Amino acid sequence: MHLDDRPFHVLESSQFDRPFLDYICLLTDTIRRFDKSKEGLMYLRGLLAHKRAMLYFTQPSTRTFLSFQSACHILGMPTSEIRDSSTSSERKGESIEDSLQTFSSYVDIIIMRTQVPGLCNQIANHLDNTDRPVPIINAGSGPDEHPTQALLDIYTLNRSFIRRGGIPGKTITLVGDLKRGRTVRSLSLLLANYEDIKIRFVSPKEYRIEDDLRLQLTKKGVQFEETSDFIGALDGTDAVYMTRVQDEYDANNESAAINIDNYSLKYEDLCHLKKEAVIMHPLPRRTELDTRIDKDPRAKYWRQERNGMWTRVALLTMILGVHRNIVLPDL
Ligand code: NCD
Repeated sequence: MHLDDRPFHVLESSQFDRPFLDYICLLTDTIRRFDKSKEGLMYLRGLLAHKRAMLYFTQPSTRTFLSFQSACHILGMPTSEIRDSSTSSERKGESIEDSLQTFSSYVDIIIMRTQVPGLCNQIANHLDNTDRPVPIINAGSGPDEHPTQALLDIYTLNRSFIRRGGIPGKTITLVGDLKRGRTVRSLSLLLANYEDIKIRFVSPKEYRIEDDLRLQLTKKGVQFEETSDFIGALDGTDAVYMTRVQDEYDANNESAAINIDNYSLKYEDLCHLKKEAVIMHPLPRRTELDTRIDKDPRAKYWRQERNGMWTRVALLTMILGVHRNIVLPDL
């Protein structure tokens, strides 16, 4: 994707290339400086005051919902929301396409999270063939993709490695339910844009990555390994990315039988990590990430969470075409 060719829909992470990633990281850094003064914040608030956004979140969400909502408000964009399809006309038998087409009559962009894989693409296709196509942002679609989380993860990694040559050449260890964890899928595909990256996938055998991801990474020439030796994988790792078991996708409570104790980062394990390593988690966490780690300088997940809001501000300015009003520093 070319920079002048800014995204319309944001559906999957593979639509982003390296120039886009470098640009959005710089744009996010620049936008954050506006947060330092009242004048800066007032300027941002004027940028999209003429637009309206809809948040259609029918799957539970705390961070993604609030960070998108806050991002819209930072840019002056009023928001409306649906958080439960039983309160919309879907309850009266309206098709999902008709419901979303209805929302598109009232707003300029729809940000959606759903339990159903592929639904965001389906709705984007549908709206493209109507009189009023509006951009769709995928804020999490079942177990398949979470492209905006991957953007904020890249931004966090980029900042963390700023004085160490950036993301290229780093070893990133992704741990947990890699089969159904959409953040891991989207992030690994973005990491493929960086030279000489090494990915370690760590999980019990039941939660290994899906074949299609394995195939895509192989095609892109990414060096990766799959292992169940968590402690061994920490050796030489630059960033460890923990994730929780996605048991909401269980058919018959099958997760209960899988022991994940060996895939949890405990305070005592920190000695296996480099001094300058980075610990990340998309949150929410359960037992896989010890709360005693929060105070360790390597823990970046609370910062990662806050970075989400600013990365989403940057993305919204791009999609709605006001990013050029933010002047980037000459490098
Ligand atoms: C993630 C998600 O929803 O996929 N959370 C998030 O968006 N920050 C991770 C998760 O729920 O485990």
